[in-house]
Amino acid sequence: MRRFVLAAIAAIAMGSAAYADTIKVGVIGPFSGPFALQGKNFKAGIDAYMAMHGNKVGDNEIEVIYRDVPQADPARSKSSAQELVVKDHVQYLAGFYFTPDAMAVTPILKQANVPMVIMNAATSAIVTKSPLVVRTSFTTWQTSTPIAKVAHDSGVNKIISVVSDYGPGIDAENAFKAGFEKAGGQVVEAIRMPLSTNDFSPIMQRIKDSGAQGVFAFLPSGPTTLGFVKAYNENGLKTAGIKLFSPGDLTQESDLPALGDAALGMQTTFHYSISHDSPENKAFVAAADKAIGNPAELTFPAVGAFDGMHVIYKMIEATGGKQDAQKAVDAVKGLSWVSPRGPVTIDPDSRHITQNIYLREVAKAADGTYINKEIQTFEKQGDPGLAAAK
Ligand code: PHB
Repeated sequence: MRRFVLAAIAAIAMGSAAYADTIKVGVIGPFSGPFALQGKNFKAGIDAYMAMHGNKVGDNEIEVIYRDVPQADPARSKSSAQELVVKDHVQYLAGFYFTPDAMAVTPILKQANVPMVIMNAATSAIVTKSPLVVRTSFTTWQTSTPIAKVAHDSGVNKIISVVSDYGPGIDAENAFKAGFEKAGGQVVEAIRMPLSTNDFSPIMQRIKDSGAQGVFAFLPSGPTTLGFVKAYNENGLKTAGIKLFSPGDLTQESDLPALGDAALGMQTTFHYSISHDSPENKAFVAAADKAIGNPAELTFPAVGAFDGMHVIYKMIEATGGKQDAQKAVDAVKGLSWVSPRGPVTIDPDSRHITQNIYLREVAKAADGTYINKEIQTFEKQGDPGLAAAK
């Protein structure tokens, strides 16, 4: 008894998580600046999950602490993560919209004894940087491989590739090239643009000059993608018959009203559409609409965050709330559930999410809203980029 009391006092003095009944989750994302809507969607997904499943796992109350990293900024992401671990005593780190922000934090996970749940960042290699990383979003290899086949099947043989010059863009370029060449097509030119590019007219001219029949493009969703697709439409590429192929980052639902009818018919491949027809998605969208306030703002990072919370709740359940990062991660290896996006599994070897990838077409719903209408399913896709990442 005496030993127990002493241990308990020592644990309280040290702030040991083993005796605490509040478990803190630190979420890093863009909550201000040009990408604030993407961070707002992290929060909407998390709030929706907690509204549907409660804020407790067993006896442990869950508290989410948000840290704003407005743009891809690895130094700020790392210092925010360190602060969350050391000052706020978070037991889990999550969020991470941009790849460089996730990459910067992987080296501290082991010593901090904290798992990382990636709710968006999409470069294949991130999961190889630490055994404590689990991803509930997607990779650009996963989403850019099927669109290559779609592009070739549509009769296009010569394509120009245009991507943002950083992790997920380079992965997307490689994935598309591999898929398109395998199908018998040719990538005639590959352009990598700085992440900060916001004037796309010169790029549009280069696309026209290339003589390609189509363009493959990846940029991270936000003002970047909206600007790119607008430039494609306004610089006459669409009317000239140069087809645009991309993963769904370029047609996120929150951008569709601003793109208007010019985007109708645009085909993309992606892991999630707000209009996905399932009871799980209807329940999710209802809760997420309520959380975000304005349904027109709801977009895909919300589902990555919602499923990320599911994984964190399972980890807390498996560890009884005690801080044991490896045990927590081991507990979700092979975990399967029905996400709002469809059936998913955490691949036990890579800790990346296996999921359906859908071919979608921008369409107008009966109520006049623009949607990504799912027209084909590529079932149970793993990450084809993992071999390349090793
Ligand atoms: C990333 O930085 O990994 C990233 C960001 C936004 C996207 C896709 C990937 O839409």
